[in-house]
Amino acid sequence: MVPPDGFDRKTGSLRISLTDHCNLRCLYCMPVQALRFAPPEELLTAKEIERVAQAAVRLGFHKFRLTGGEPTLRTDLVDIVGRLAAIDGVRDLAMTTNGILLPDLAQPLRAAGLRRVNIHLDTLNPDRLKRLMRFGSVDQILAGLEAAVAAGLTPLKINCVVTLGYNDADVVDLARLTMEHDWQVRFIELMPLGGGQCAQLALSRYVPTAATRERIENALGPLEAVRSPNPADEARRFRLPGGRGEVAFISPVSEPYCGTCNRMRLTADGRFHLCLLSDDEIDVRPALRNGHAVTVDDLLRQAIAAKPSGHRLAEGLSVERRQMFQIGG
Ligand code: GTP
Ligand code: 5AD
Ligand code: SF4
Repeated sequence: MVPPDGFDRKTGSLRISLTDHCNLRCLYCMPVQALRFAPPEELLTAKEIERVAQAAVRLGFHKFRLTGGEPTLRTDLVDIVGRLAAIDGVRDLAMTTNGILLPDLAQPLRAAGLRRVNIHLDTLNPDRLKRLMRFGSVDQILAGLEAAVAAGLTPLKINCVVTLGYNDADVVDLARLTMEHDWQVRFIELMPLGGGQCAQLALSRYVPTAATRERIENALGPLEAVRSPNPADEARRFRLPGGRGEVAFISPVSEPYCGTCNRMRLTADGRFHLCLLSDDEIDVRPALRNGHAVTVDDLLRQAIAAKPSGHRLAEGLSVERRQMFQIGG
């Protein structure tokens, strides 16, 4: 059993960032200039990631998610997935990706033990995708999505970050995908991270879930609530009339879900990051590399105990020292 955190929440999900590099440059996530990446020697190796996951399983974690930056840029990704899938106790092994490299990787990842993927796609409109995600194309992402479905990396979820003036009108077309497909299309409220230009954009382009929902319902009909069996699910789930899939909303700003947060994060440079929206971290590398007396298990216990009660966006506070691409959501 995972020990409860300081607010009696049960942590049981580890989000592992594999790299801070990405092949896209979404406006709200990654600046184009003055980027600083972690030096290669600071990135955890496949073996070190495996050791952290083993420690997490010993403490009772079952859910693992690979993120980035863009996790498919790790050349040893299939090896990492294989190592994690082989750990007894790893039940839900998933990945968040922009999908672009999945045409080649979906099958090998499935064979190595990956269960499912969440794919980031902000709009189906080619021009507006270029404006918002800057590199890549709708066709490339859809090819990745099809490869994921063909390989059985399901249930499939699509993440759309709603950004005023860029894709807020495109949510209807994305939601419509759930009429024919059994996918979950999720609309995410923008969060300001990192204090720089991405955070500024997030603050000025924020669209509340209520507005996105109204737009979808006006065009496609009333949404019917779907109960989630998982109390820590940050998505509120719905179905369109006659729809096969689900439309869901992730509303960290207008409806924070910190009270049920069960997540711990491991950054690509080997730190437990205690809350997406705070700077608090515990460095795991000394325990992994220097034969430190404190074990990874001890550090993970400390990290769980030190998790803050929730974010403080309402007070204008957020993570300052990292941007989204350096945490992975
Ligand atoms: P599932 O297991 O499929 O539910 O995955 P997930 O939704 O946890 O993962 P994903 O990487 O697809 O995250 C979707 C969005 O939720 C991203 O924008 C994340 O930043 C956001 N999110 C996930 N966990 C947290 C959290 O603890 N706090 C906040 N504020 N946002 C989160
Ligand atoms: N606010 C909210 N969600 C974001 N994502 C990336 N940047 C932000 C942000 N500033 C989402 C992407 C990605 C997931 C990990 O986080 O949709 O799929
Ligand atoms: Fe890359 Fe995802 Fe960040 Fe976009 S949101 S730049 S796809 S890591």
